[in-house]
Amino acid sequence: MSPLRVTRTLPEDATDAALRADVQHGLTATPKTLPPKWFYDARGSELFEEITGLPEYYPTRAEREILADRAAEIAAATHARTLVELGSGSSEKTRYLIDALTGLDTYIPVDVSESALTQAGEALVADRPELAVHAVIADFTGRMTLPQAPQPRLVAFLGGTLGNLLPAERAAFLAAVRSLLAPGDALLLGTDLVKDEKVLVRAYDDEAGVTAEFNKNVLAVVNRELGADFEPGAFEHVAVWDTENEWIEMRLRSLAAQTVKVPALGLAVDFAAGEELRTEVSAKFRKEGVAAELTAAGLELTHWWTDAQDRFALSLSMAR
Ligand code: SAH
Ligand code: TRP
Repeated sequence: MSPLRVTRTLPEDATDAALRADVQHGLTATPKTLPPKWFYDARGSELFEEITGLPEYYPTRAEREILADRAAEIAAATHARTLVELGSGSSEKTRYLIDALTGLDTYIPVDVSESALTQAGEALVADRPELAVHAVIADFTGRMTLPQAPQPRLVAFLGGTLGNLLPAERAAFLAAVRSLLAPGDALLLGTDLVKDEKVLVRAYDDEAGVTAEFNKNVLAVVNRELGADFEPGAFEHVAVWDTENEWIEMRLRSLAAQTVKVPALGLAVDFAAGEELRTEVSAKFRKEGVAAELTAAGLELTHWWTDAQDRFALSLSMAR
């Protein structure tokens, strides 16, 4: 059994510098924002895993259903020898692909969450001793350099995570993915679909309050890393459907007028009562929109699969 290899493409202090820059920029902007990648410290990754099992959170189950049904077709269409997964998290659904890809030699999970990567990687190394697993700690919105590995390669981006990027960021991201692909390589993309507003809002505002805790975890990250004094109880979780942009917007609403100090940045941030801090969008898609975004990035959609209830889609595309 080959051991788990782990590569960090960013020095540890680059993460720190990026967090400082994002917090400085986001908390002094109008309206205030924080980028979603800072949700995922060890606790955040754990809470996300909990979300995937909630009765209201259908995307994980819908995507798993498609993967279970279509893994053999994906394998036949790609013959991948290397599977790269961006934002791999627990890599749990990925096992359908790994099992179906009979010629698979190397799996490269890429994530900002070191704890999620090493946990998932160690489990895979133990269960699939013949597979080379090379985990990469990296920010997929930055410049990605991947380890050498045999072609053809399949890049998977699951979980609807594309929807957590804003439109301009999505275009840049897809173009960057395109530039990683050689002729014969493919992209497998998971996108959540536009549907009834009530179903969507419930998925991001669950009864048990796990999503609220996940959302507030970003405050705990800023407290721990930058010495801030955010009081999570002084904010409430808000999830709203934006009809025009067709995305769910996650916010933290200040329950009272308050000032939050961020000593590492020498910052004092005033919140008015009821003021909202935007923490994340989760865009929902239609087939035409996905196809158009792929085309704009130099990719061509070749397959489109949905679950039996048409809630979620997996698409396969190739470099044009
Ligand atoms: N693919 C898994 C996890 C989805 S949650 C699933 O489908 O269940 C989103 C994942 O992307 C998390 O593991 C998070 O740590 C990671 N992530 C978020 N932003 C990232 C970024 N900018 N770069 C790399 N990974 C990121
Ligand atoms: N990619 C997931 C999604 O958009 C991430 C997610 C699920 C999420 N629930 C969340 C992010 C709640 C922030 C808050 O569905």
